[in-house]
Amino acid sequence: MANLKVLALYYTQSGQLEEIVNHFTLPFTEAGMSVEKVNIRPEKDFPFPWKSEQFFEAMPESVLGQTVPLKPFELKESHYDLILFAYQPWFLSLSIPANSMLQHPTIKAVLKGSPVVTLIGARNMWLNAQEKTKKILANSGAKLVGNVVLVDQHSNLASAVTILYWMLTGKKDKYLGIFPKPGVSEEDIAHNYQFGKMVCDHLQDHSLNDLQKELVAQKAVVVESDLMFIEERAPRLFSIWANLITKRKNRKPWLIAFKYYLLIALFIVAPIVLLVNRLLFRVFFLSRIKRKKKYYQGLEN
Ligand SMILES: Cc1cc2nc3c(=O)[nH]c(=O)nc-3n(C[C@H](O)[C@H](O)[C@H](O)COP(=O)(O)O)c2cc1C
Repeated sequence: MANLKVLALYYTQSGQLEEIVNHFTLPFTEAGMSVEKVNIRPEKDFPFPWKSEQFFEAMPESVLGQTVPLKPFELKESHYDLILFAYQPWFLSLSIPANSMLQHPTIKAVLKGSPVVTLIGARNMWLNAQEKTKKILANSGAKLVGNVVLVDQHSNLASAVTILYWMLTGKKDKYLGIFPKPGVSEEDIAHNYQFGKMVCDHLQDHSLNDLQKELVAQKAVVVESDLMFIEERAPRLFSIWANLITKRKNRKPWLIAFKYYLLIALFIVAPIVLLVNRLLFRVFFLSRIKRKKKYYQGLEN
């Protein structure tokens, strides 16, 4: 199948998403397809490791979907048989570099009329980012045929602590020697080869329309109830903060306020609300929860 051409677009700070992309695309190379991997970078890149202030500074523009100029890049082809768009969420939205990539005229042109698989490397909250991605892809005339999501499988609280440690120090190791390693586990990254293989097989068999059903069955896209509960409520609040902060001449005190708001929301309010919801309300909404999970695992928008 040497004539099939695959394009993989990604941005990464720590290298995690690049590793994920490498495992995912290996089956395509093994099948003899041409795989063009393009690591897209902003003209003025974001820092890694981050300083705390810079980290929260990225919130308003991420949430409001603003773009930044990208370093020049070239694509070898004007059409691909499959485009893999790998991205990471920032503040429940697409990361600024990923969003800038999707909105770039060269990429928009190549997306038009092409089948696209999204590949997400997140902490654990990706639902809203994917909803935004679905819309942008549809507006570009792309056809979303699959979605694979890799997350940190540890508890929401543990992964919130460890991601901050990782992002603020650049070290993907065990914080204080007691917390689990941050990010997507090495096993899950390696297992991503299997998801790549599924996509590769469907591409070869001309059965991309049936791909997502198999990916869901093989647990390539798992939606967790508590996280869905948070993600359905948080974006409205993030959007209020983002609009408030961008209107200020001096953003600094507002960003500090947002930082403490987020820490309190994540570590104190969310666990209490989730517990109350589990004990008192969830049982009444089981079929609605099931329906919504199915929607988020799907491709329609
Ligand atoms: C500024 C910032 C905000 C983030 N917000 C989220 C988020 O809302 N949801 C989530 O699951 N992960 C979030 N993450 C984690 C990233 O999605 C990603 O998993 C991590 O940064 C590693 O990606 P890399 O390959 O670019 O290094 C955030 C990371 C950064 C730097």
